[in-house]
This record gives sequence, C-alpha cells and structure tokens, in this order.
Amino acid sequence: MKTFDRESIAVVIGASGAIGSAIAGLLEAAATFRSVIRFSRRSVPALDLTDEASIAAAAQHAVNAGQVRLVVDATGFLHQEEIQPEKALHALSIEAMEANFRVNAMGPALLMKHFLKRMPREGKVAFATLSAKVGSIGDNRLGGWYSYRASKAALNQFVRTAAIEWSRTHRQSICVALHPGTVESGLSGPFAKSGLTVHQPDESAAAILALIDRLTPEDTGSFLDRSGERLPW
Ligand SMILES: NC(=O)c1ccc[n+]([C@@H]2O[C@H](COP(=O)([O-])OP(=O)(O)OC[C@H]3O[C@@H](n4cnc5c(N)ncnc54)[C@H](OP(=O)(O)O)[C@@H]3O)[C@@H](O)[C@H]2O)c1
Repeated sequence: MKTFDRESIAVVIGASGAIGSAIAGLLEAAATFRSVIRFSRRSVPALDLTDEASIAAAAQHAVNAGQVRLVVDATGFLHQEEIQPEKALHALSIEAMEANFRVNAMGPALLMKHFLKRMPREGKVAFATLSAKVGSIGDNRLGGWYSYRASKAALNQFVRTAAIEWSRTHRQSICVALHPGTVESGLSGPFAKSGLTVHQPDESAAAILALIDRLTPEDTGSFLDRSGERLPW
C-alpha cells in the first residue's frame, strides 16, 4: 500500500476468518506498515465483538504499539448449527436476529467507538468493515435472509453516521463498508450455488486492499464493492 504512512500500524479484526487472514497475510507480505496486528477471538489479547471490554482493551493494545492508521474489520456472522438464514417470515426468531445484529452491526459499531478516536488526527486513516451486497435495501430483489440482510443494512448506517462524525475531527479519514464479492469461506460455503462465480480469499483480499489504497476522504461514508463501484443503500 502506497498511501499510508510506512511507520504506522495496520490492524485486522477477524484475522481468523477466510478473508481476514488473507488480508493480514497480504499486508504482512507487502511490509508497507511497520507492523500488522491480528485480532480474533483467539488472539492475545482476544477480541470478541460481543464483549465491549475486550474491544476497548484490544484498541488500547494496538495504539500502545504505535500509530494505527488502518483498521480492517473482516468479522461477520451468517449461520451456526441451529441458526440458519431465514427463507421466510415464519422462520424469524429473536435468537437468530440477535446473533446477526450482535456480530454484524453492534460489534463493528463498538469497534468504531473504541478505535476511531485513537487514530491520528492528521494524515490518511481508514476504517473499512466488510458488509455485504445483500445488505443493500435498494438491491434486494430476492427476499429471504432477513436477519443477515437487516444487520448488514444497520452496519451500513453505523458506518455512514460514524464517517460524518469522524471527518469533523479527522479530516483525512475514510470510513467505509465494503462488499468483498462471493468468496469461498466457512461463512458462505453452505450456500454456494452452482453457476455462481466464487472467488478465493486471496483474490478478494488483494482487491480490497488495492481499493482502500485508492480511497480518499471524499469516499468516506460510502458502501462500495471491492472494485470501488458504489452500491445502493
Ligand atoms: N464469503 C462471502 O462470500 C462474503 C460475501 C459477502 C460478505 N462477506 C462478509 O465478509 C466478512 C468475512 O467473511 P468470511 O467469508 O471471511 O467469513 P469467515 O471465514 O466465517 O470469517 C468470519 C470471521 O468473523 C469472526 N467472528 C465471528 N463472530 C465473532 C465474534 N463474536 N467476535 C469476534 N470475531 C467474530 C470469526 O472468528 P472465529 O474464527 O473466532 O469464529 C472469523 O474471523 C463477513 O462480514 C461477511 O459477512 C462475505
């Protein structure tokens, strides 16, 4: 990456995931940051999106290491054994809605709460969170996947709102929601449809990092696919 201060630190949250580990690996290989800090529920310190104290401690740990100029949030939730994307209204449950909103919307909002204020006020700083095109309300033509769609739409609103606030104190800040494309991972695997192009995590990670490098403060508050195309809210 060419547009960030080379003495600064990059943070990847959800570094245990398919896309997150690819992003962290590419950042380390490129060596354009002084160091790359990988957070996950198994890192030391651990970062669990459902535990605000762990988020605050992780943010402090990161800034103790130096100036954090890039934070990529690659966490996300779609399913676990008993919770599956809903095909119809009758499948809605508090448990599933809560699981999706906790990880996809509230967790990233708390990441912004604890990381953004700790990042340098001068020079390029960026917070990019992985959203999903299915979270677009304008682009919803198929229905279904209520909780995942709604939680990603909520995430997009958190990003837009935080971007406005952050730009008042951090004039060169960039806060965006990015769609990584359809990527092979534990999250997407059970739902791969034949005929649909599925990308490898490394390919998606490279596109995401190239896009973040191109972004300027004029792009803050936007919802983009990995090629940089604006997506409807
Ligand atoms: N794959 C796709 O086709 C696709 C398409 C559109 C959008 N996305 C988005 O891209 C992002 C990354 O997805 P992926 O495909 O790489 O999925 P993945 O391999 O399942 O990775 C998900 C990551 O989220 C972490 N996570 C889940 N719950 C957490 C919690 N409570 N606290 C902290 N971390 C938590 C997981 O950590 P653990 O290892 O601890 O579980 C893992 O690192 C997600 O936001 C997803 O919605 C993916």
